[in-house]
Amino acid sequence: MRLSIYRYDPDKDDKPRMQDYDVPLEPTDQMLLDALVRAKTMDDSIAFRRSCREGVCGSDAMNINGKNGLACTTKIAELKEPVVLRPLPGLPVIRDLIVDMSQFFKQYHSIKPYLVNDNPPPEGERLQTPEERDDLNGLYECILCACCTTACPSFWWNPDKYVGPAGLLQAYRFISDSRDQATNERLDDLNDPYRLFRCRSIMNCVDVCPKNLNPNRAINKIKEMMLKRAI
Ligand code: SF4
Ligand code: SF4
Ligand code: FES
Repeated sequence: MRLSIYRYDPDKDDKPRMQDYDVPLEPTDQMLLDALVRAKTMDDSIAFRRSCREGVCGSDAMNINGKNGLACTTKIAELKEPVVLRPLPGLPVIRDLIVDMSQFFKQYHSIKPYLVNDNPPPEGERLQTPEERDDLNGLYECILCACCTTACPSFWWNPDKYVGPAGLLQAYRFISDSRDQATNERLDDLNDPYRLFRCRSIMNCVDVCPKNLNPNRAINKIKEMMLKRAI
């Protein structure tokens, strides 16, 4: 399999380049990550992140033939060659396929991604009805891979001001949690021309999410709640 990999080491290189590798595959190599690991046995200097190889940790997100995705859940058989691998767009490159995720996590932390509840903790769990728990489906499964946020033009232009689809999906995850008491504060915080309203419904986020989540739907729900509150 021919891989064409973005290579850039800011300590050594003046500018990035693409480097081709003809990787001999074994029958057990099913996913793109298998091919990348084999390429690394040919050239140990190729840098990329990976951990779980199961679509759970989110660390091997990259741009694959022009579309963001996870190397470990992308089937080799479905890829057109040469497979062009670039780092996630819109974030600074640390080396090769590794990007600096600081801005992504800064926006994620800004939405207070934890339960706010000032009632004294009960003996056991804070209970929900099955229906209340169902409201969190399609929200809690996010693995924070950043495929969506780094595919979003609104985030590219305003990474310091626009929360981005991943952060907004998580904002809605806590807004819709029956145990959370900070709904009003959360809506106040997002009621801003940039933090939420920079979303232009371009839908790239929905197109690339490897967990089939829909950040755009969550963003629209937040907007609806703001409108209802204002009436
Ligand atoms: S729908 Fe909104 S959040 Fe999703 S990619 Fe488009 S602008 Fe970004
Ligand atoms: S919403 Fe999907 S694409 Fe975005 S960070 Fe979560 S899992 Fe990744
Ligand atoms: S290696 Fe963990 S999601 Fe791919």
